[in-house]
Amino acid sequence: MDMGAGILVYVLLFLPTLLSCIFLRTHKRRPQQRAKLPPGSMGWPYIGETLQLYSQDPNVFFSAKQKRYGEIFKTHILGCPCVMLASPEAARFVLVTQAHLFKPTYPKSKEQMIGPSALFFHQGKYHTRLRKLVQGSLAPDSIRRLIPNIEAVTVSALDSWAGGHVVNTFHEMKKFSFDVGILAIFGSLDVNHKEELKKNYFIVDKGYNSFPTNIPGTPYYSAVLARKRLGQILSEIISERKEMRVVEKDILGCLLNSKDEEGNILTDDQIADNIIGVLFAAQDTTASVLTWILKYLHDDLKLLEAVKAEQNAIYMSNEEKQTLTWVQTRNMVLTHRVILESLRMASIISFTFREAVADVEYKGYLIPKGWKVMPLFRNIHHDAGFFPDPQKFDPSRFEVAPKSNTYMPFGNGVHACPGNELAKLEMLILIHHLVTKFRWEVEGSQSGIQYGPFPVPQHGLPARFWKVSNSRGQHGCA
Ligand code: HEM
Repeated sequence: MDMGAGILVYVLLFLPTLLSCIFLRTHKRRPQQRAKLPPGSMGWPYIGETLQLYSQDPNVFFSAKQKRYGEIFKTHILGCPCVMLASPEAARFVLVTQAHLFKPTYPKSKEQMIGPSALFFHQGKYHTRLRKLVQGSLAPDSIRRLIPNIEAVTVSALDSWAGGHVVNTFHEMKKFSFDVGILAIFGSLDVNHKEELKKNYFIVDKGYNSFPTNIPGTPYYSAVLARKRLGQILSEIISERKEMRVVEKDILGCLLNSKDEEGNILTDDQIADNIIGVLFAAQDTTASVLTWILKYLHDDLKLLEAVKAEQNAIYMSNEEKQTLTWVQTRNMVLTHRVILESLRMASIISFTFREAVADVEYKGYLIPKGWKVMPLFRNIHHDAGFFPDPQKFDPSRFEVAPKSNTYMPFGNGVHACPGNELAKLEMLILIHHLVTKFRWEVEGSQSGIQYGPFPVPQHGLPARFWKVSNSRGQHGCA
């Protein structure tokens, strides 16, 4: 998508929000303001600074603002007044200590597409209940049993890329992270259900960021239909699981067996919305980071050799056909630092959105009720005060733990990512098999970034992969 088309899509996408903000603005009087609004510019009437934000790299916009106004500033984008926060203390204030004053906020069309009962749209009792269930199924004790299956998915994915043909790395990583998501949610799932879920999920994924319209043939309209079919497929899977009467420890099992204090179980729709929500939260995020990791390793031969040495040592210590153990994945020290540094450098979730549910005062500034609030993770991750020489890819910086609240690739507080351990585990496993048995070359000079919506290397990092022999004891990767 070129920049002009990008701007148009974003403006159109948020048009309903824009109109409702205009309506509210003309029909409500603001209460007497005690504190002053943060510094910053609100741009043009109604359009605000949306065009400035989307006509350039969004990170340039955020950084320029921070340089000019400091850690807290106001702006007006996508039809809504916003306060942006670029310091660890401010992010903690919004996400942790005063989280009850800031609710999650998403465009209605996106909420409908994923499913309104998905946990990340909620606060309070329902959110806490769902979060406990999802977090429990994704905790280290639950996911360690998935290692052999994740390895099988990894090996099959890598084998399909090998042979020297050009592969769109990001697209392939999306398929991989989808398969791992399916494992975490369902354990084993029969092939027909899996294929049907995959086919329809990818149509939903394609339409999710397009302009919401009911015109047949548009990506959004197709996505709405595919979302309905997803609901039906999930309903079949849920009925079959209920008939089996076995208590599984996967996410579906936990959702099916949950009862609240009054003994109420979750409805099938609530379960389906949360399954789609987890798949959605798990897929593009992990795939984007993995794509960046392949680029960073490819661009730093010395580092790649060191990672290969670490992984080959583990590979050689395993008997023929023995799978990785949990302990081995915990001992991939350098590879783990590469993942942490990739998460910092790429900061694929550059910021998050909340909405103030009341007038809130922060350091003498007013955050008015109804305003959007955006903690800027990327600005914090790229602040030289916390990460010296921030543009340098340097995994060794993680030999020392970052200062508290300065490193938030998985967010912070009540909505922080419950899938972070699974994401790291699947990345470790993929890197292990990749560097011990394959080599890869990136096609062309790849320096650009594309946003879709997460930042990924230009064109999804086209690359060629070859299998190399690595009989145990032989250093096979050229
Ligand atoms: C590298 C990969 C990933 C990254 C960078 C990432 C990042 C994040 C971040 C920053 C949030 C918080 C958003 C906010 O506060 O608004 C979040 C929430 C969430 N993530 Fe992840 N995530 C990743 C992978 C996963 C995986 C693999 C799963 C599940 C299998 C998952 C499930 C979720 C869920 C369910 C939430 C919502 C939690 C809530 O609202 O309580 N994520 N993620």
